[in-house]
Amino acid sequence: MSNVKWKLAVVSAILTTAVRAGLDIPPAFKEPPSDEVDAVNPLIGNGGDSPNGSGGMIPSAAPPFAMTRWTAQTDENYVSVTPYNHTHTSVHGFQGTHQPAIWMGESGQVVVSPGLGTVNPLFEDRGMDIVYDGEERMEAVSANYYAVLTQASEADGGGVLKTEMSASSRVGHLRFTFPTNASSPYILLEATRPTILGSPASPNGTWTIYPSGLVIVDPSNQEICGRNPERQDEILGPNAAPSFAGYFCARFNAPFSSYGVAQNGSTTDGATSAEGPVLGAYARFAAAGEGPMVVDVRVGVSFISVDQARRNLETEIPDGTSLEETAQATRALWVEKLGRVKVEGASADERATFYTGIFHTLQYPYEQDEDGMYYSGYDDSVHEGNSYTGYSNWDTYRAEWAWLILLAPERIPGMVRSMLQDYVEGGWLPMWKNIVETNIMVATHADSLVAEAHVKNITGFDLETAYAAVYKDATVPPVDDWTISYYDREEDVGYEVRAGLSSVYEEKGWVANDIHSESASRTLDYAYDDWAVATLAELLGHSENASFFRARSQTAPFTIFNADTGFMEARDANGSWAGQDQGWTEGDMWAYTFDVIQDVPGLIERRGGNASFVAFLDEHFDGGHNDQTNEPSHHIPYLYALAGAASKGQSRIREVAAANYNSTVDGLSGNEDCGQMSAWYIFSALGFYPVDPVSATYVVGTPFYDKVTISFPNASQPLVISAPGAPTQPYIKSLTVNGETISQPILTHQQIANGGKIVFEMSDTPQGWASTTLVGVGQY
Ligand SMILES: *[C@@H]1O[C@H](CO)[C@@H](O)[C@H](O)[C@H]1NC(C)=O
Ligand SMILES: *[C@@H]1O[C@H](CO)[C@@H](O)[C@H](O)[C@H]1NC(C)=O
Ligand SMILES: *[C@@H]1O[C@H](CO)[C@@H](O)[C@H](O)[C@H]1NC(C)=O
Ligand SMILES: *[C@@H]1O[C@H](CO)[C@@H](O)[C@H](O)[C@H]1NC(C)=O
Ligand SMILES: *[C@@H]1O[C@H](CO)[C@@H](O)[C@H](O)[C@H]1NC(C)=O
Ligand SMILES: *[C@@H]1O[C@H](CO)[C@@H](O)[C@H](O)[C@H]1NC(C)=O
Ligand SMILES: *[C@@H]1O[C@H](CO)[C@@H](O)[C@H](O)[C@H]1NC(C)=O
Ligand SMILES: *[C@@H]1O[C@H](CO)[C@@H](O)[C@H](O)[C@H]1NC(C)=O
Ligand SMILES: *[C@@H]1O[C@H](CO)[C@@H](O)[C@H](O)[C@H]1NC(C)=O
Ligand SMILES: *[C@@H]1O[C@H](CO)[C@@H](O)[C@H](O)[C@H]1NC(C)=O
Ligand SMILES: *[C@@H]1O[C@H](CO)[C@@H](O)[C@H](O)[C@H]1NC(C)=O
Repeated sequence: MSNVKWKLAVVSAILTTAVRAGLDIPPAFKEPPSDEVDAVNPLIGNGGDSPNGSGGMIPSAAPPFAMTRWTAQTDENYVSVTPYNHTHTSVHGFQGTHQPAIWMGESGQVVVSPGLGTVNPLFEDRGMDIVYDGEERMEAVSANYYAVLTQASEADGGGVLKTEMSASSRVGHLRFTFPTNASSPYILLEATRPTILGSPASPNGTWTIYPSGLVIVDPSNQEICGRNPERQDEILGPNAAPSFAGYFCARFNAPFSSYGVAQNGSTTDGATSAEGPVLGAYARFAAAGEGPMVVDVRVGVSFISVDQARRNLETEIPDGTSLEETAQATRALWVEKLGRVKVEGASADERATFYTGIFHTLQYPYEQDEDGMYYSGYDDSVHEGNSYTGYSNWDTYRAEWAWLILLAPERIPGMVRSMLQDYVEGGWLPMWKNIVETNIMVATHADSLVAEAHVKNITGFDLETAYAAVYKDATVPPVDDWTISYYDREEDVGYEVRAGLSSVYEEKGWVANDIHSESASRTLDYAYDDWAVATLAELLGHSENASFFRARSQTAPFTIFNADTGFMEARDANGSWAGQDQGWTEGDMWAYTFDVIQDVPGLIERRGGNASFVAFLDEHFDGGHNDQTNEPSHHIPYLYALAGAASKGQSRIREVAAANYNSTVDGLSGNEDCGQMSAWYIFSALGFYPVDPVSATYVVGTPFYDKVTISFPNASQPLVISAPGAPTQPYIKSLTVNGETISQPILTHQQIANGGKIVFEMSDTPQGWASTTLVGVGQY
């Protein structure tokens, strides 16, 4: 695709010195902040356009973990459609979005839409085509700054409109440069729209509703403020969050020449407020003599009130702040993180994939607090404290959380406290929190997040509350556990948690397939969560609890191991096998048979020992069963090393990376899933992966680059990973950590988190290192 090539060129133009004809990027954005970060490439749409369009990551300007991310609006977003799609060529506004992933709903968004002439309040009427210079799309994208040129229609006098934007966590900062002599430039704030609920994937499909919002125009203060209660996931989960709304307060730097309110597509000039559906408000601006009309607008957002949105605006981007200053401040926040990692010996494509991956991993969960207060949808009131939302725990417990613990440890106490508040206010830890619980996916992997934080010595949250919360997950079933299936996106049900816990799991060890959806995946995932609970119990001195949950974590998985077939298989309540294609969540019997990360030796033994297990892994990969586009496969190539076949794992890991990651616009083969896809790549490139997150160990894979130097915030010295020749030599010949020889394929958390020197000796042929199971290594 020609426009893809152009986009990459523009990104590097931002970061080097070139200036695009017609898209004059201000000098503030051209200087690379440091040598380390000059490859940062926040790709447009990178996130994998699968045939279903399940990409997910859109170009957005905002700081790490920002409450609101700002993106150009090419589409009306809903579950399965993002607001920006790089294959679409018309921009309908600029959206402050809270949609955390493509399969989740939007909530409380605000859209800023510039125009000329007649005010066009409705999405379908207000699109402006993106300007192309030959094949090149006039659009510039980076983590902290976005710019686009759009063409005004002949009817509106023609001319080119330039839009630039950046953002702080709770304020979008936009600057519109209207065509010279444009008649009646205006800016519309959209509060509410007809919105789409449901999902194309659910039995009821999708349908449209009309949320009722509020707009207030204040010409004397040059403000348009309002409220949008839209929450597309309101049909999911047990928490109604009845008072939820996204509030906004936009302040303009220019006086209004006129203004009005738009309702249901019609405008009323001079009106200063309205409530209702399909609602917006606008201001027009008079041309200011010579030169183009430039309007600067800052949009504060809040989940608490209009007044709080205004306070957020004044605190984060005070009056008089230029867009350049906002963009530089946000850039500095990215550089603080991305600049901690220095890569040597990676190709340009690998560097872009790696740094874009870091950009993706530092977006979720996102801040939901303001001035030390937060709106909780669990009890529908405002509390003091930090809060985060956008927890995709089924995905992120694998490697994303381990990566955040290393690179952003200062965030972890607040993120854990936030989950504990959800437990206190709503009764349970989050599963997939999108403002409130949505019951998406299965299992109670918050147990793993909490236990891993404690195992890795993160402090700053209440351990008694933490234990009570995970203990409840492991012991209290959901309501009507014998009768509700709890299928994905099932509406009008209570908190799903460990569906099936009481009905059969507690007594027999498996979740019954004739009672519950996704029963075999649940069985295996609950057993891992039991392991996480046991780990926390042990550290907190609850040794009887620890023994109980540890034992259950090691027996439950094998209650669904069918020794006749050698695969995990779902079972009915009466013990009958339910069929090999039954009971899986986003995976199949191949991926899930390897899903016993807490007892890999037990699994190997049941599969006939190391050599037989390695043959099984070969069958899995050679048969095309490994599926990196979805999470259940992510740890599988690392299991070779645990069966004494490290060198085989090394070539598999390189193959998986090459086949599923690149720096093109469609360069992720699967959904980013709040950072887990990229976290796999980042850890793999470093040479190790957290197969069992709560063990505080990592399994060694194969470092991709010659050298990586990382300054983790809590380490007293940098971590230097040297692997000379690694780009072309995937096999490990030897490994030392701070001079000590390591012969097992395991690194501990201390060996990484505290910094130090990890030295890999690499080879282009398979080696015997940690490969005792293989006879005659080097022959294949
Ligand atoms: C794509 O859609 C098909 C048909 O609806 C479905 O079977 C498949 O699981 C989907 N794949 C992804 C990656 O969502
Ligand atoms: C982008 O739009 C194209 C064409 O309309 C569509 O096929 C694709 O699924 C969309 N991608 C996403 C991520 O929505
Ligand atoms: C704008 O209007 C002024 C005054 O009418 C005129 O001199 C100038 O040429 C116009 N500029 C453009 C770009 O049309
Ligand atoms: C479909 O929607 C109706 C009305 O909103 C609701 O009562 C019903 O439970 C839904 N059914 C399913 C299968 O989601
Ligand atoms: C706008 O449309 C909605 C839904 O059709 C209707 O309830 C409302 O009364 C209309 N409002 C106005 C101001 O026309
Ligand atoms: C690391 O630093 C943060 C504060 O920046 C702190 O909250 C955390 O507990 C520290 N400890 C570890 C082991 O990461
Ligand atoms: C946590 O801290 C203790 C006490 O300093 C130390 O022994 C232990 O190794 C640390 N754990 C990790 C995973 O770093
Ligand atoms: C296990 O932990 C729970 C919660 O702290 C406690 O009530 C219970 O007594 C413990 N059981 C044993 C056997 O230690
Ligand atoms: C076990 O239960 C399943 C599902 O309810 C049923 O189809 C099967 O016939 C039962 N098997 C036996 C041996 O009763
Ligand atoms: C299987 O391989 C692992 C990893 O090398 C090793 O620790 C274990 O002892 C081996 N098991 C047997 C039975 O040889
Ligand atoms: C980039 O990755 C995507 C997703 O895996 C793949 O479809 C595409 O072919 C790859 N492109 C290149 C140039 O490797």
